[in-house]
Amino acid sequence: MSVHQEDTRKVTTHRLWEMKQRGEKIAMLTSYDFSMAKLIDQSGMDVILVGDSASNVMAGNSTTLPITLDQMIYHGKSVVRGVNRALVVVDMPFGTYQGNSKEALASAIRIMKETHADAIKLEGGSEIRESIERILCAGIPVMGHLGLTPQSINKFGTYAVRAREEAEAAKLKEDAKLLQEIGCFALVLEKIPATLAKEVSESLKIPTIGIGAGQYTDGQVLVAHDMLGITQAFSPRFLRRYANLQETIVQATQDYIKDVKSRDFPNEKEQY
Ligand code: KIV
Repeated sequence: MSVHQEDTRKVTTHRLWEMKQRGEKIAMLTSYDFSMAKLIDQSGMDVILVGDSASNVMAGNSTTLPITLDQMIYHGKSVVRGVNRALVVVDMPFGTYQGNSKEALASAIRIMKETHADAIKLEGGSEIRESIERILCAGIPVMGHLGLTPQSINKFGTYAVRAREEAEAAKLKEDAKLLQEIGCFALVLEKIPATLAKEVSESLKIPTIGIGAGQYTDGQVLVAHDMLGITQAFSPRFLRRYANLQETIVQATQDYIKDVKSRDFPNEKEQY
């Protein structure tokens, strides 16, 4: 399978910044394992996120909170082995950076040393400033994440759109500026009004990557299992499904069961 990008050079944080400068949209998708990461990279993806959504789609948890640092490192290592071109970002899991900045740095260093990923992502603004600054001081690129931050679901109480109210929108704008000032290379904006995402994206030099944040962000991210139609129950308005792999997988599995039961598989050519 060939790479569907003319430019086969490794994507770097600097190249994402250049893409924003020239108005080229950034495509980002999650991945959690070697085989899928290889296909996604070969398709020409700019950024692959080893999201803590692995907690939902890989482990079947109802939130992202239970996934551990060891588990994220396992997913990160598997993905990095399959990727040549895309920038690989690994999510820092809940509880590994909010406590204190030394613990945050130790967690980020483990991710970088053990996975060989290119960057880490963490959720939040001014509350975790010290942790982000310490991680950046160690030379680790940081992607921010504002708006709906799923690790705070127990505080929010709902996955509804964030920052509709002026006070929350103002705090988000301040946090976005702060994250740029302290040195984050990009910013995920999740489930906020498109007009707010536009204002933030236009006010920043660093690229914004939206999920449920409308058409004006500098790039888009989706969870691979959602956009490929492997997960079916999750169907928010912002999700566009590009395949119905659930149907394909169930059909193929049923065909296999039928062939085994009917003794059609394996046939003479499929044996030694
Ligand atoms: O964990 C994840 O998949 C994410 C994206 C939804 C941005 O953080």
